Amino acid sequence: MQLANHSVKSPVSIQAKNILMQFNQNILFHADELSFSQGDVIYLQGDNGSGKSTLMKLLAGLLSPSKGQIHSHGFKQAPWWRTQSLLGKAVYLHQHPYLFEGSVKYNLTYALDQRSLLPEQRKKRIDQAINMAQLTDLLSHHASDLSGGERQRLAIARAWIAQPKLLMLDEPISNMDKQSQSLVVAMINQLKQDGTGLLISSHQTCGLTALCQQRWHIQQNTIHTSMHVPRVEAVHQTNTTEFHYGTTN
Ligand SMILES: Nc1ncnc2c1ncn2[C@@H]1O[C@H](COP(=O)(O)OP(=O)(O)OP(=O)(O)O)[C@@H](O)[C@H]1O
Ligand SMILES: [Mg+2]
Repeated sequence: MQLANHSVKSPVSIQAKNILMQFNQNILFHADELSFSQGDVIYLQGDNGSGKSTLMKLLAGLLSPSKGQIHSHGFKQAPWWRTQSLLGKAVYLHQHPYLFEGSVKYNLTYALDQRSLLPEQRKKRIDQAINMAQLTDLLSHHASDLSGGERQRLAIARAWIAQPKLLMLDEPISNMDKQSQSLVVAMINQLKQDGTGLLISSHQTCGLTALCQQRWHIQQNTIHTSMHVPRVEAVHQTNTTEFHYGTTN
């Protein structure tokens, strides 16, 4: 796929080989080979408790596998003091996102302080995120006062602003009503167009998983990989579109 905003020459990736994850003596999953690269849009499927969040934490460097290796490629060299070299590479957006103490606006602007953007580009990107996530009326609210769905919308807007090369979204639209879901789908779709690698977990198919081109399915303690071909049989209702899709192995 074409990578619009990110470098086409050296797409970054995370590769896992022969990994096995267990807690105490219980094997959660194993996988021979997994590759998550810029430009990939992967649907991570599995029942509750199958290990979706755990897999994302492994790829983010927040946990280490019980066996096997996970490496990153194409990123700038980590600073000498960072002993866990995967940390900070593939960004993990938690199911229950962490927000900073402070207003919604602070949460959005803080995300961009890390980036070397010109002030006008910075303002443009923040304004665009506020519009896309429809956060205008909430800007002065304290982040801790937001509802569950609003928190998720804010966290995704923040990730959209920061535009990481690899982003993992853990159940991003659970708790959301239809309108919030479609705002988030539009933001994630734009990250996809920009070439951000996306790994999206969900225990059920939804408007977001219809954007995916690959599928990782955790089933019977094994991670199976396949192409994901959403069959969009759009059922048009008033202002909404429902998707029904299938998956090929
Ligand atoms: N630190 C831990 N110590 C022991 N067991 C753990 C730990 N973290 C997760 N588990 C267990 O591993 C299993 C997988 O958890 P995980 O959160 O990855 O599942 P999930 O697929 O994300 O589930 P859900 O769909 O409910 O979010 C669960 O049974 C959980 O209790
Ligand atoms: Mg989970």
